[in-house]
Amino acid sequence: MALDRTADLIARDARSVWHPFTQQSRWVEDQPIVVDRAQGMYFWDTDGNKFLDGVSSLWVNVHGHRCEQVDDAIREQLTRLDHTTFLGLTHEPGIELAEKLLATAPAGLTRVFYAGDGASAVEAAIKMAYQAQSQRGEDRPYFAHVAQGYHGDTLGAVSVGGIELFHSTYRPILLETRLISSPGELAEGQSRPDRAAAVLVELRDLFERDGDKISAIVIEPMVQGAGGMLTHDVSFVRGVRELATEFGALMICDEVATGIGRTGKMWAVNHAQITPDLMTCGKGLTAGYLPLSAVLATEAVYEAFLGTPASGRTFFHGHSYTANPLCCAAAIASLDLMAERDTVGHGAAIGDRMGARLTDIGGYDGVREIRRMGTMIGIEVQAVNERTGFDVCQEARRHGVWVRPLGDVVILMPPLAISEDQSDFLVDVVSDAIRTVVQ
Ligand SMILES: Cc1ncc(COP(=O)(O)O)c(C=O)c1O
Repeated sequence: MALDRTADLIARDARSVWHPFTQQSRWVEDQPIVVDRAQGMYFWDTDGNKFLDGVSSLWVNVHGHRCEQVDDAIREQLTRLDHTTFLGLTHEPGIELAEKLLATAPAGLTRVFYAGDGASAVEAAIKMAYQAQSQRGEDRPYFAHVAQGYHGDTLGAVSVGGIELFHSTYRPILLETRLISSPGELAEGQSRPDRAAAVLVELRDLFERDGDKISAIVIEPMVQGAGGMLTHDVSFVRGVRELATEFGALMICDEVATGIGRTGKMWAVNHAQITPDLMTCGKGLTAGYLPLSAVLATEAVYEAFLGTPASGRTFFHGHSYTANPLCCAAAIASLDLMAERDTVGHGAAIGDRMGARLTDIGGYDGVREIRRMGTMIGIEVQAVNERTGFDVCQEARRHGVWVRPLGDVVILMPPLAISEDQSDFLVDVVSDAIRTVVQ
């Protein structure tokens, strides 16, 4: 019966659905999992198979699935207010969440602008940066960005991306940008601090050449996630802050992946103890329940938008579902629970534990490098065919773990609240899968 249901759903899916980042010609052949239900760190497919959610449903889950406190907060919110626009109206969940977010944020970030997904927060930040500069009398039409960077899939976000496979197709229709090398892509024998110093020299050269035309530099602080969990030295983040200030560019830190505790601190910029001019967040903001993202801005950026209605200084940007109250209620409940349980500290300890347990597979010939910061982990394996990373994940799936690769980098990024035993199981299954596939 269940098998019939699964086959039927897959057939219907194949007839009518188009999946993101998916080569549809291989979709059915690769035997998609049809998810039926989820609880805690696990989800079950329609055939009753249980899987550990090893990548937090694409880096979003925090407390596990169906977390009682978040479930209750959404239900409670539903009894009061489903949705009204945030254009010309306001509501308590939107106000309260902004206060809570700012209380966690680096000092100096004082304003919250809501968006929907990570990409739409980046999009808003880019427009804000350009408009703030132009309203201060500066003509700065370019953006600086980093090779191997990823900021989402809308055109502004793609413009400041740096992953050839995802982005090169669209180059003819993108914003004008200036690219610097990745601080995490090391030359043979190069240390991370040396790499950071070399890329900062590149950035200084760029600013000296084109600085008066650059509105902002966009970076993923500490870890370039989609680029393959490329970690870099903290001096890079500090150096970008200094150079951006020196040349009058704004610094946009995209914390959509690294924020909300992922790197072992609440925000990745906390490692560098700097404050960006604009900071985006999303993904884990609602604990993996609902789409909500935000741009946090300094008062100086905010003030560049103040004027009379006729001045044209308004930020003409927003969405139908901006600050949806159900999303805000989920985020408030999650942030409260994180504070109550010290989820960030727990995640940091789990990350260290996973790192220690991975040293064994790290010494295996088939593993090129393991990169980790907090619970963001990339295991780069030796390619033995065209889809080695994918094959490792398929093998892990046969043993009850669901993970998704980035090329030949196998990603582990469990919910921050995962237990020690569950994290051990995740590491062990993936290590065994690597040994089986990469021989
Ligand atoms: C750093 C970063 N920014 C932006 C995004 C885009 O977020 P979304 O997929 O929610 O649009 C991602 C997604 O992985 C990301 O890693």
